[in-house]
Amino acid sequence: MVDMNRKYLAFHRPSIGEEEIKEVVEVLRSGWLTTGSKTKQFEDKFSEYVGSKHSVAVNSCTSALHLALNAIGLQENDEVILPTMTFAATGEVVTYFNAKPVLVDCEEDTLLIDPSKIEEKISKRTKAIIPVHYGGHACDMDKILEIARNYDLKVIEDAAHSLPTKYKAKMIGTVGNVTCFSFYATKTITTGEGGMACTDDDEFAENMRIMSLHGISKDAWKRYFTEGSWYYEVIEAGYKYNMTDIAAALGLIQLKKCDEFYQRRASIACKYSETLRNLPEIKTPVVRAYGTHAWHLYAIQLNTDVLKINRSQFIEEMKKNGIGCSVHFIPLHLHPFYVKAFGFKPEDFPVSTQVYERVVSLPIYPKMTDEEVEYVMQTIDKIIKNNRN
Ligand SMILES: Cc1ncc(COP(=O)(O)O)c(C=O)c1O
Repeated sequence: MVDMNRKYLAFHRPSIGEEEIKEVVEVLRSGWLTTGSKTKQFEDKFSEYVGSKHSVAVNSCTSALHLALNAIGLQENDEVILPTMTFAATGEVVTYFNAKPVLVDCEEDTLLIDPSKIEEKISKRTKAIIPVHYGGHACDMDKILEIARNYDLKVIEDAAHSLPTKYKAKMIGTVGNVTCFSFYATKTITTGEGGMACTDDDEFAENMRIMSLHGISKDAWKRYFTEGSWYYEVIEAGYKYNMTDIAAALGLIQLKKCDEFYQRRASIACKYSETLRNLPEIKTPVVRAYGTHAWHLYAIQLNTDVLKINRSQFIEEMKKNGIGCSVHFIPLHLHPFYVKAFGFKPEDFPVSTQVYERVVSLPIYPKMTDEEVEYVMQTIDKIIKNNRN
């Protein structure tokens, strides 16, 4: 029975304040709704924040990943290495080129791509690696960059979860060839839908910018600004991936709050870990000493061998108590498309297949009150204690 006296604690609620609303209204009143000065400002501020030379604002992280693979010249029948423990977007962008996503299993504790299993997947057709900074925890980039150097591969980072994340002294956004961020509604900062491709490479940046807007030449792109003219040339068959000024206005304010949001998520993660690690049936997330964790996700693993309930039943119990949870991710190799198209089997990726049965993402976002955090922990304690073998 759902406790009707409690309001439902959603898995996520975006943190949108009056400042965001005011900024968006200003854009609406300005007469300039699509890509323009706000988008340019957002790109500049984003570059400043992560420390990248270029930032190209687009309408999703999926678009950014697509543009990045296009910029490195991915071709039909090429192969791209990526983790199976990821969202649909990371794999599907490879198939846009009729190239092959080559999946790699994850590490059992971090759920990140296992760098020790990458080399065995490299073939003559491999062109790139897409590490995914799962949940907001950076992959072991030195190991991945070394493999990339040895085999002349490009590294396109899927950083949908990892703003702000540090890898050693560097911010994610300055490590690989191109880094792709997401500003989807549930992400650490949001523009409703949106994404950013960051790079230090001038050619990649120009290519992504041109291709994000129909492949029209760089100067013609300026026709969206006052110095532009009516004339334009299409130099490639591009896409329609540009960010609107309405979205960028949201992004500008959200970016200002990024550190404050991060502090709140980190403090919730700290409380969760301090308390939940006392339950032997629960494995709390690990953070490697080499970096920081953006805490987009707080994913626990249940030791279902010592519980009377499985992962799905645990989520159901949480729901009955008015708490929304989620699962990140159903590994790509278990989805019908990947099974049909590439013949993947559960036993090809034993760690991800097993971890998937145990993983649960708990609510973690700045709007959560201390009382809500406490309620989540107490509810987990109660469910676990009631369901011990
Ligand atoms: C790991 C990962 N990559 C890429 C994406 C795609 O992001 P977007 O919705 O901005 O295209 C997501 C979205 O949830 C994601 O979790």
